[in-house]
Amino acid sequence: MNPIFGHFDDPAREYVVTDPLPPLPWINYLGNTRLTAFVSQQAGGLVFHKEPLTRRISRYHYLPASQDQPGFYLYVKDHGTGALWNPHFGPTTTPLDSYQCRHGLGYTRFVAARDGVEVSLRLFIPPGDDVMLWDVSVTNKSNQVKKLTLSSYLEFGLLEFAREVFWCYLKNQIGFTYDAVENWIKYDYHVFQAPFTPAIFFSCTRQAVGFDTLRAAFCGRGGSLERPGALLGNGFSSSQIPAGGHGCGAIGVDLVLAPGATERFAYLLGVADDWRQAVDLKRKFSSIPAVDAAFASLQQEWERKTSLFQAKTGDADVDRFINVWNPLNCQVTLERTRDISTDHMGLDGMRYRDTMQDALAMANIDPEFAKERIRLIFAAQGSDGSGCFSFYPYAPKQRINEEPRRSDNTVWPIMTVANLVGETGDLSFFEERIPFRDGGEASVYEHILLGLEYIYARRGPHGLPFLAHADWNDGLAVFHDEMAESVMLGMQLVHAAKLFRDYAARLDRKKDVAWYDAVIAELDECLNAEPVWDGEWYCRLLLSNGLRIGSKTRPQGRIYLEPQVWSVISGVGREGRGRMAMDAAYEHLNTRRGLMIHTPPYTGIPNPDDPLTSNVPGTGENGSIFCHAMTWAIIAECMLGNGDRAFEYYRKLLPSLAAEEEGQAHWGREPYVFASSVVGPAQPGDFGKAGISWLTGTASWAYIAATQHILGIQPTMDGLQVKPCLPSHWSHVRVSRRFRGEVHQIEINNQTDSIRIDKLSHS
Ligand code: GLC
Repeated sequence: MNPIFGHFDDPAREYVVTDPLPPLPWINYLGNTRLTAFVSQQAGGLVFHKEPLTRRISRYHYLPASQDQPGFYLYVKDHGTGALWNPHFGPTTTPLDSYQCRHGLGYTRFVAARDGVEVSLRLFIPPGDDVMLWDVSVTNKSNQVKKLTLSSYLEFGLLEFAREVFWCYLKNQIGFTYDAVENWIKYDYHVFQAPFTPAIFFSCTRQAVGFDTLRAAFCGRGGSLERPGALLGNGFSSSQIPAGGHGCGAIGVDLVLAPGATERFAYLLGVADDWRQAVDLKRKFSSIPAVDAAFASLQQEWERKTSLFQAKTGDADVDRFINVWNPLNCQVTLERTRDISTDHMGLDGMRYRDTMQDALAMANIDPEFAKERIRLIFAAQGSDGSGCFSFYPYAPKQRINEEPRRSDNTVWPIMTVANLVGETGDLSFFEERIPFRDGGEASVYEHILLGLEYIYARRGPHGLPFLAHADWNDGLAVFHDEMAESVMLGMQLVHAAKLFRDYAARLDRKKDVAWYDAVIAELDECLNAEPVWDGEWYCRLLLSNGLRIGSKTRPQGRIYLEPQVWSVISGVGREGRGRMAMDAAYEHLNTRRGLMIHTPPYTGIPNPDDPLTSNVPGTGENGSIFCHAMTWAIIAECMLGNGDRAFEYYRKLLPSLAAEEEGQAHWGREPYVFASSVVGPAQPGDFGKAGISWLTGTASWAYIAATQHILGIQPTMDGLQVKPCLPSHWSHVRVSRRFRGEVHQIEINNQTDSIRIDKLSHS
């Protein structure tokens, strides 16, 4: 028996979770790049402003593992039947007559019924305002009058997560009071030198009939969120805690519904700079038409993003990813980098290399947002050209993590910036001036140049860039050899140098063009020299003692995926070597779920010469199917003209298909967003199980692989280039692509190999 927890509703652009108990929380993100929340199929989740380390508004329990509690709860008390239930099933877990959790673009809607009462709870954050709206609609579907009490529940924490966890036991740094005039619960923050002291409120469009701001009062003596005393016992306590404590947002509403009647109201959580602005914000959303208008603006925003690229390939899974779910995944990944999910606790900042890659696809989908993030990344660069591992742009004082050391940080920017200016056609972005983290400033052009030179200047005896503990692959941790050289980074440097050289030529920087031509030629030689080419594939690392990682000579880690794909992307794999390398990858690394990152995985106690992968065999960077790296294999196969193999890899990557083929219970994760990795065959029982979902570089690169390589529609400075590489079984493809203000209707006939492009309209 293969349990099914949900399905796609393609016309509605929603994923419908139909069973509230999938193997793990299946979440969605809501937000406007400032106020952000995530919410699971049981309404577990949290909300924060800009970043979850110092601006975390509500609580979510992570230890020892995600408890998926608390969240954005709506309780329904039916006075006729005595039942207390949640439309999202938990935390009461009272059985429901029907339940659906509909995750959509920027919103999540629960629709559930019990004893003739149907409740819809739609959670979203509109693009223009820092307010989270809980849009509630209740319908009496029975033939009797229904008397109901509804209550919200949201648990507040200290804004600064580390302070909450380490120092502030009594929580007398936060106070919560209810103000009947504004009908809101006020959040007061009394932390000395707090980095962020906004005015935060929780309110309702209906006057409260009762409230609690103290968690213990809402739960009652011996009570809990599963059985809250406020709704099962003597009612709300009107608890207020100006002097601090564990705060919550419980606002009660009474409804009396005649048969067939519907009532709507909304809860709102708002964040403003001060209380005057907070009053304005609250009043702005005090009516249902305002809530509807806000939802309409959210839909328009997503329409703008998704209408950039709409494909009809004849394959429903491909279409729903290209048109809906991959853009959503890209937006969230660029917003959230690797900071918060049910797996990430929100301690990490933005990542130099990851965020730059996340901006790659968003450079097409939303170039302005991509630019905003690119500026933040360059502002974290040192004036010597160095990148860093992570940074906290919203921290009170500049905070940069240079550890762990990574050698690839500054190789990525040109890939993203080239795609961005290809999209906009505006070369002036290269001239924009951005500061360095240690003072001074430079143009975008110079930031990129310095970053590439930084890598070029740090090379080993074979002319290849130093690994510096690890490159893109975190699992290639070689701490014992400071002279270890990275083949992958060498190839990436060639690719980056080629892209950069083209823009240097366009910008008429002749000296740079000549220099990069020389660099490309030099590295190309080094990368095709004996120790790097292993006869059938490219090896991965050269160690200073002569050993090579990713070579036939090694018992473990004999072949790695990354140098094979980058040999093609960079063009280094000349004279048929690229094809040979990709065939070797197919032969040695391919599984029913796609390409392993290397094989055989490292087992047992690490040999002194082996990298410290820090993952058990078959997982993570130790022989899993690493989805991020697999996207490059799709691109490489397209560049080699092998559409069938590219599509085989793309298909294996698609989470909807993977979840179907492996079984939703075994796959475990959301079928609507990409996973970072999939357990490989070295773990036969777990083979095919998905790793972390949502926050993975897979999202951005999969979008590029599908739109720019399989469908082959690539924005360039010279216009929209169309060079598809389709699987042979596809017959017709239609794409609508907005490009620099014009909508291009592209029709590809795969049988006759012909392409028709109509510029239909101006937008
Ligand atoms: C994860 C990390 C990323 C790294 C990759 C490969 O996706 O977020 O930084 O490059 O793994 O190790």
